[in-house]
Amino acid sequence: MKKVGVAILGLGIVGGGAYKILTQNRDFYCKTQNVDIFVKSVLECDKARIESLGVPQEQIAENIFEIVSDPDVNIVVECIGGITDARSYVIDALNAGKTVVTSNKELICKYSHELERTAKRLNAGLYFEASCVGGVPIVRTLLDGVQSNKISSIEGIINGTTNYILTEMSKEGVGYQDALAAAQRLGYAESDPTADVEGFDAAYKLSILSSLAFHTKVPFSKVFREGISSVTPEDISNGSDLGYTLKLLAVGKDTGDGIEVRVHPTFVKKSHPLAGVDGSFNAVYLTGDAVGEVMLYGRGAGELPTGSAIVSDIIYAATHEGSRYSTFKNNATAEKDVKFVSDFASAYYMRLDVTDRAGALAKITAMLARKNISIVELLQKSNGAESATVVLVTHSTHETAIKNAVSRINASGVASVRSVIRVLS
Ligand code: HSE
Repeated sequence: MKKVGVAILGLGIVGGGAYKILTQNRDFYCKTQNVDIFVKSVLECDKARIESLGVPQEQIAENIFEIVSDPDVNIVVECIGGITDARSYVIDALNAGKTVVTSNKELICKYSHELERTAKRLNAGLYFEASCVGGVPIVRTLLDGVQSNKISSIEGIINGTTNYILTEMSKEGVGYQDALAAAQRLGYAESDPTADVEGFDAAYKLSILSSLAFHTKVPFSKVFREGISSVTPEDISNGSDLGYTLKLLAVGKDTGDGIEVRVHPTFVKKSHPLAGVDGSFNAVYLTGDAVGEVMLYGRGAGELPTGSAIVSDIIYAATHEGSRYSTFKNNATAEKDVKFVSDFASAYYMRLDVTDRAGALAKITAMLARKNISIVELLQKSNGAESATVVLVTHSTHETAIKNAVSRINASGVASVRSVIRVLS
């Protein structure tokens, strides 16, 4: 039977999960895949972690050079995270002709061109299913499962931490800080939650997934990004009254006029399949010209779900001749003729504090109308003496039109806009 040796760099949550799965399922893969995949070595400096995973002494490598020079290591799994060491270790492994499997979204997002060029030159493989949406097999779906399609859109809940926080805020009516604290207690959010709550994590993943879906590099710098730290329970409750659920949505579209990529809080109709994706679960909803709509749902983080993605890549690499590369075309940027749309179209939810006097509402709607913004729904709640809250949802308009209208309203003295949230239309 063919033997395939694996080295794992980093035994944190994800590397540890991959280690457990590979060790526990070795016989199963021999039986079902006809290949003996074994852990040859690990690189990890935390001795307690090594002990808790029961890693035998002979599997512990001293440094990266020991691993890349070992002829029995065929596949190097990078689960270190960050980009400094990870980038140089992956390049070392590829230069030694080893296939690399990585869970590192920032690395693939920023350096896929460099890594893939090196991999191709050395005829090595480069696999990154675990970098996007954990255990949800979205990378393989885009590369293989729906490759017959022109994909027009990807809409996804691709960050579990923020989905957990927004679900808590929606279901329990708690504020952002309390929901974040609960997420931290449960280990969903880091002590510095910035990467998740400000949308960086989702933006890296969206950059990778859009590059695959639209067959051109979609650089991180093109992704419009707004996080959830300013979201209020009041807006979530108003949205709910109007039939919406709030999600941090990642949206990639190829509209024909160009590619738009954005991550921001979004109101989704309660009847939309994404509205029911709660807690730390993730989902990606694709639209292709032939297949129509496809939705993948599952766990986007965690040791075994993300370990599952890593080990599936290892098995794919171990059982296929030659390597399947992404379609990023080894570029850091898109081709010259690809346009990116920043003034994207969307419907909007708006909450305003209004001076409750005759004609105030007429003035607000006139300022919106001047920007050709039409209202679909409107609610007004009186706050007592001469003050009211107005909540409205617009028809589809454009980002620039909304920003201009908001500036005019705020300068008018009639009302101040307290929040603006995009609505999936
Ligand atoms: N921190 C991510 C999330 C998982 O909350 O979904 C890793 O990308």
